[in-house]
Amino acid sequence: MASWLPLFVGCLFLLNLRGNDCEKIQNQDMECKNAFLELYATKLYVDKSTFIRDFITMDIDLVLLTFPPKWGKTVAVDMLRAFLQINVDENGNHVTSPPDVFTDPNLKISRHQALIAAHHKQHPVIHVSLHDVQGTTVESMLPPLTEAIARAFDHHYYMQKVFSRAAVNASADDVIRTNARYHLHTFEQIRNRTADWKTLKTGLHMLAETLHAHFGKKVWILIDAYDHPIDIGQTQDLAEADVKMDYLRDLLQETFKDDTHLHKALLSGVMRVAKLNNFYGLSSVVETDMHLNHFLDDFGLKETEVDALFATHNLTGNLVEEAKGWYKGYGISSHVNRVEIVVYNPYSIAQFIKNKNVTNYWVQTQSVDILGNLFKSSEMEAVFLRLLSGESPKVVLEDQVFSSEELHMIHGALTAPSENAKRDLY
Ligand SMILES: *[C@@H]1O[C@H](CO)[C@@H](O)[C@H](O)[C@H]1NC(C)=O
Ligand SMILES: *[C@@H]1O[C@H](CO)[C@@H](O)[C@H](O)[C@H]1NC(C)=O
Ligand SMILES: *[C@@H]1O[C@H](CO)[C@@H](O)[C@H](O)[C@H]1NC(C)=O
Ligand SMILES: *[C@@H]1O[C@H](CO)[C@@H](O)[C@H](O)[C@H]1NC(C)=O
Repeated sequence: MASWLPLFVGCLFLLNLRGNDCEKIQNQDMECKNAFLELYATKLYVDKSTFIRDFITMDIDLVLLTFPPKWGKTVAVDMLRAFLQINVDENGNHVTSPPDVFTDPNLKISRHQALIAAHHKQHPVIHVSLHDVQGTTVESMLPPLTEAIARAFDHHYYMQKVFSRAAVNASADDVIRTNARYHLHTFEQIRNRTADWKTLKTGLHMLAETLHAHFGKKVWILIDAYDHPIDIGQTQDLAEADVKMDYLRDLLQETFKDDTHLHKALLSGVMRVAKLNNFYGLSSVVETDMHLNHFLDDFGLKETEVDALFATHNLTGNLVEEAKGWYKGYGISSHVNRVEIVVYNPYSIAQFIKNKNVTNYWVQTQSVDILGNLFKSSEMEAVFLRLLSGESPKVVLEDQVFSSEELHMIHGALTAPSENAKRDLY
């Protein structure tokens, strides 16, 4: 496990990366958190950096990754972003990035030198987090959704300088100057938080187009908590819920209407939503969850990893045995060789280590009561009660694609963490 030296070095580079992420954004109240870098700096970090390799080497346009809450999706998305994101100065010129966490020989990904040479800090990345997008009505959902899209633009603030220069470039075509003025105007509207919905929903595709043109490289698009806006446990009005769903569908369809400017996309969320997974414009899409084994080693904690964590934290004896009994949650049976692999929920393990107390941390983050009233289908209820009691042995979930009605019933219940839980990294 990490000794003080790599942790210390990690912290130094952490400052570096944060500097790039935050200071240059020129937006004082903007949060510039990276869940992976935060976690990496703690003794709770378990090396899941092979996800970077597994995602990059997957020959596919878009990966839809669905896992239950608190299984490390945001950490994984933020890790990819920190790894891939090209380093630029304030004029948008590529500058060589200093060594960082990914070249730390302690991380497994550092051993993949060809992959690091080809991809580490080499790509324009659009990152959108829909974690904070909630609201019972379309009217209440739109401001946070506007904010989420604007933040994705804030990270590429330097493009305004690129457009401004092109707009007055006497040696360029008229068409180029006109386009640059148009793009500059749209950029400003979105960053001023004054753009209308039509501009917003087409904005990410435009951002990809202009980044592609500027860097001469196709763009990676990462959308975290893609299904969170339709967290409609609170919306009792099904018609309203449907309209919210339509907005989100429009946003995703406009963003992924073709792969002209797209290198690869990752959408992470809690579930597959029937209305939201029609990416007709892309040639290859894969939907994957914890039972489809695409990322078998990249999520959840294995027995050996849990043992190592406990050892680092000097946890031994009966308490440890009790904890393992409680949190040995998921048996994932491999589709390939039918071997069952047991994984632990990383959130529960982290909470146990912090509190040195065995209790049902994971279910505490959910509003379980809502479920009883909402389930109409007993089959659905069974699936979700098994999911919610994920800390009992041998839970195996079926593949599920949800209709908007079903979603309406269950989604809020699954994705509304308590105030305390919100602050946790997993
Ligand atoms: C101006 O346009 C010319 C011709 O398209 C191009 O070569 C040059 O790089 C442009 N300069 C700037 C500052 O955009
Ligand atoms: C954005 O806001 C700035 C500063 O308030 C203003 O100068 C600019 O005209 C605005 N742009 C658009 C397109 O709304
Ligand atoms: C675990 O015990 C070792 C040896 O007593 C000590 O150096 C270390 O600080 C302890 N670690 C924690 C997390 O308490
Ligand atoms: C452990 O959890 C139980 C039940 O939640 C609680 O009553 C008890 O105070 C906790 N003990 C410690 C040491 O936190």
